Amino acid sequence: MSSSNSAFLDELRSKIDIVNLASRYLTLTKRGGNYWACCPFHTEKTPSFAVRENGQFFKCFGCGESGNIFNFVMKMENLDFWSSVEFLCKMYNIQPPTQQENEQLAAQKKERELMYNVLKHTTEFYHNNLINYPNSPQAQYLKQRKINAEMIDKFKIGVSVNFDDLPLYLKKQGFSTQDMLTSGVVGLSDDGQRLYDFYGKRVIFPIFNGFGDVVGYSGRSVEVSPDHTKYKNTNQTAIFNKSEILFGYNFVRDLKKEKLLDTIIIVEGHIDVISCHQVGLTNTIGCMGTALTQQHARKIKQLVDNVIVCLDGDSAGENATYKAIETLKSVDLNVKVVRLNKAKDPDEYINKFGKDAFVEELSNAIDCVDFILTDKAKKYDLDVNSQKTRYVEEALNYIAKFSSPTEQEIYLKMVQQMVKIPLDSLRRQLMQINSNHSKPANEEVETNEIVSNKNILDSKIMLLAAIIYKKLKNFEDFSGFFNADDELSSLYKFVAEKLKENQNFAVSSLFDQFDIKNNSTLDKVINYVFPSDEIFNVQLQDAIKQINKYQLKQEWEQVKQQMISAPTQQQQYEYLTKLQELTKRINEIK
Ligand code: CTP
Ligand code: MN
Repeated sequence: MSSSNSAFLDELRSKIDIVNLASRYLTLTKRGGNYWACCPFHTEKTPSFAVRENGQFFKCFGCGESGNIFNFVMKMENLDFWSSVEFLCKMYNIQPPTQQENEQLAAQKKERELMYNVLKHTTEFYHNNLINYPNSPQAQYLKQRKINAEMIDKFKIGVSVNFDDLPLYLKKQGFSTQDMLTSGVVGLSDDGQRLYDFYGKRVIFPIFNGFGDVVGYSGRSVEVSPDHTKYKNTNQTAIFNKSEILFGYNFVRDLKKEKLLDTIIIVEGHIDVISCHQVGLTNTIGCMGTALTQQHARKIKQLVDNVIVCLDGDSAGENATYKAIETLKSVDLNVKVVRLNKAKDPDEYINKFGKDAFVEELSNAIDCVDFILTDKAKKYDLDVNSQKTRYVEEALNYIAKFSSPTEQEIYLKMVQQMVKIPLDSLRRQLMQINSNHSKPANEEVETNEIVSNKNILDSKIMLLAAIIYKKLKNFEDFSGFFNADDELSSLYKFVAEKLKENQNFAVSSLFDQFDIKNNSTLDKVINYVFPSDEIFNVQLQDAIKQINKYQLKQEWEQVKQQMISAPTQQQQYEYLTKLQELTKRINEIK
């Protein structure tokens, strides 16, 4: 964003009070620190739409809509961003920014819009090919996979039958070579002479963002040959980020709006998602063959509390299941697992055994911890006493990671059923492990990943809220706490930059930089509910300590790995010294 632009937007923000703006449309009632009204964006009888004076933004606790003055007007008047700026200028009699001032921001926006537009035409082109080339191997392939017409429409599936038609078609639609390249739908031949369809001769599965706009594609090859990758996917672009996008998320989100959603089924492949939707399991999304990220998990958590993970039956699918459980649990989802052994994936299962059998499998999904405890047991012969002991040890160590005694008790009973050892003695052994864990460790530093990740996330959210709402007397540099590649870190960087330069910034301006509405973590920061200052200060000091400790533990783990793989004894010794130092620092934090 050009500085003149953000200066102008800042000016608008300082001149226009969101309470005043909202009151021009709604009847607001003051309650607590907020103003309340019935939400204008969904139908309701009791007010859940809050306008916050101190942060200058609104949030509906019913439908989740939130934003600043610009978002409010965009939604109310159905305008795009710049039209909303103009609209507000008129409404409040403020001189609008000049064209020149708009340029940089407008250019970025234009590029994104152009990309959406190119992809829209490309999607139509591929889709129409199905009618123009019904006998092409690609169209035949869809038939063979038993994907019906309804699904082809719903998922806007299409085909590419050669490498030349797409660039020609897009050119006819008025797009330049650069437009096509930027959007990632065509490639340039090595000699730089010829444009070719990036997904040439493939079956095309468009990938949608949460709003249902096409942002990329997966092209499936219909040929079986070693030099053919099965799927060719869109590379990272300004509108396509693989670690955020889930296949089918837009449809599942629509279900949520209709209040028809309780559980999300997670599968691996595109065709798995489509097969599930085809038999009416419209709450299915796909991770497109990649590992689930925290960002994925949080997007899911925004919609539901319950998930069923049903990945491929092979051993890669098994490892992926383990990882997925950890990621999904770290955002506090209830996770159940289905392992298919009669078919390689949900698509094959449904085709072989039908919908009812698959639904039966889903209804027998087991709790993820049960899954892990059972799976761990497979390594041991529980009829042999020494092996049984080792299993119990491994299982109890795992259970000890859960902070809630109720949870521990439930899982303890699962182990009990497998090993048939009296519950009491298992409980005693678990208590022993629990108490070892809570003592400050002297040589070993324990990492309870599942449990502590979540607490650390909460602590970071608290700290960031404190920074943003200026609860800290002076700005301190916390960049060491926010150096991961995640949304909290980008928010921190943005805010820290402003504060370091002593620039004033409005909380509401963050809505222009970040997609807060669709990101539950950022939403938690912005909507942080502060207790009294006295209590908050104590909590905050504790949170800072916790994060500090966590960071040191991470460092400890790293140094330990370095030590293990250090080639010389001298180096090992150096790492060891470093480890001892870190252990000391960790134990100093009370
Ligand atoms: N995938 C990918 N690139 C590959 C292979 C797989 O992106 N080279 C992703 C795709 O999203 C695919 C998913 O991983 O849908 C599952 O892959 P896999 O199980 O190997 O595919 P199949 O089930 O055999 O695929 P299909 O159903 O299309 O035959
Ligand atoms: Mn598969």
